[in-house]
Amino acid sequence: MVAARPRKAHFTHRDRVSAQNAKAVILAAGKGVRMKSERAKVLHEILGAPLVAHVLKAVRDAGVADVLVVVGCQAGEVRAVAGPEAAFVEQEEQKGTGHALLCCGKVLAGFAGDLLVLAGDAPLVRPETLRAMLESHRRAGADATILSAVVESPAGYGRVVRDAEGRFLRIVEDADAAPQERSIREINSGAYVFRTPRVLGALREVRPENAQREYYLPDVLKAMKTIEVVRTDDPAEALGVNTRRELAATAAALRRRILDRHMDAGVSIVDPGTTYIEDGVEIAPDAVIHPFTVIRRGVRIGPGCHVGPFSHLRGETVLEERAEIGNFVEVKKSRVGARSKAKHLAYLGDATLGADVNIGAGTITANYDGAKKHPTVIEDGASTGSNTVLVAPVRLGKGAKTGAGAVVPRGEVKAGTLVVGVPARPLARKSAPARAGRGKT
Ligand code: UD1
Ligand code: CA
Repeated sequence: MVAARPRKAHFTHRDRVSAQNAKAVILAAGKGVRMKSERAKVLHEILGAPLVAHVLKAVRDAGVADVLVVVGCQAGEVRAVAGPEAAFVEQEEQKGTGHALLCCGKVLAGFAGDLLVLAGDAPLVRPETLRAMLESHRRAGADATILSAVVESPAGYGRVVRDAEGRFLRIVEDADAAPQERSIREINSGAYVFRTPRVLGALREVRPENAQREYYLPDVLKAMKTIEVVRTDDPAEALGVNTRRELAATAAALRRRILDRHMDAGVSIVDPGTTYIEDGVEIAPDAVIHPFTVIRRGVRIGPGCHVGPFSHLRGETVLEERAEIGNFVEVKKSRVGARSKAKHLAYLGDATLGADVNIGAGTITANYDGAKKHPTVIEDGASTGSNTVLVAPVRLGKGAKTGAGAVVPRGEVKAGTLVVGVPARPLARKSAPARAGRGKT
């Protein structure tokens, strides 16, 4: 495609200029009948974020700050997800994608720049592709630029019809396509750049004369002279979500894209098929992620760490270098120091672990008292015996130890001390008669 190589979040002067003269509209008013859901389609989530939030992020990452979201079904919820930086237009009745854009007519009147129009249900479009579209559009002085992709199963999508020389002719919707058109595998992704006054003018001429009785946005192309087609080499970018199956397929494609990015950066992912890493996770080179592992947004993992199999790392967790988290261990909002280990059956929440700590199998930080969350601090070299419960707020000093089954009450265990029992107390020295006679009559 025309797109340049993916660039980091670094904008050249030219990018900035092209993004500055552009606004974006995200169409997100539809209910999504084919989802068979109470919830509006764009609110359904993949990898921990609603579909529309992924689209919004791609637009922002492309450098376009001025974003208008067309809302209708569950407008309040969609507004909340899009956040205060977006502007909104209501489409009270969903009469089609063309009608949705027409609803922005008043707000966009007088704007002569380029308009990026995106579907709120196609979450995998990449910022670098949006920038490439804007650039191609400008270079060609086009009226419209569309993003197409060649896919294996084009059913359901609008098809890109070309003439014998391969020149763009029109887009035909699946429902309106003739049998030979249905076999076309080049599809309309639903992402466009338009010259704003041109598209607003053309929309007024669109009529709902088609199989679905809707105002089709692609019909504006009939009135346009110069039309550019940017064809992406990553068909996942064009995936739209209309059904639950497509929701799962899109999630799988996004998941794979994120895993590839980590692997390219030097992270070992032993089994990509069973590893789930959300966007916004930092993993240093030479970390190893074992199968059946879930890592949520906001986690940071240092070099040489081992995570999994069967681990769950949640937001604001930091693993310092060579830390190890193993089977059935959940870590939430915790810092695990260098070389520290929690290898089996544990919960660490709101905890700060120093270096070289060993967490025994079954250790639980009881961080929640039913009303508030409390912190746990485990200093360097401390270790917990199997099935220890640490009732927070609690601190284990340097080198402190707990015995198997200890329930450590709120407070502090002094450095170097071994505590045992329920509630845990320092282990009496052998010579002391402390517990003698207990249990006898
Ligand atoms: C649309 C395109 C099709 C393209 C496909 C890509 C049209 C007519 N067809 O079809 O060519 O291949 O996307 O995924 O545009 N929406 C509104 N208001 C409406 C109708 C839709 O805001 O009145 C929003 C929806 O919430 C959705 C987006 O527009 O986010 C696309 O609508 P959808 O009905 O899913 O279009 P497709 O049938 O998939
Ligand atoms: Ca769709």
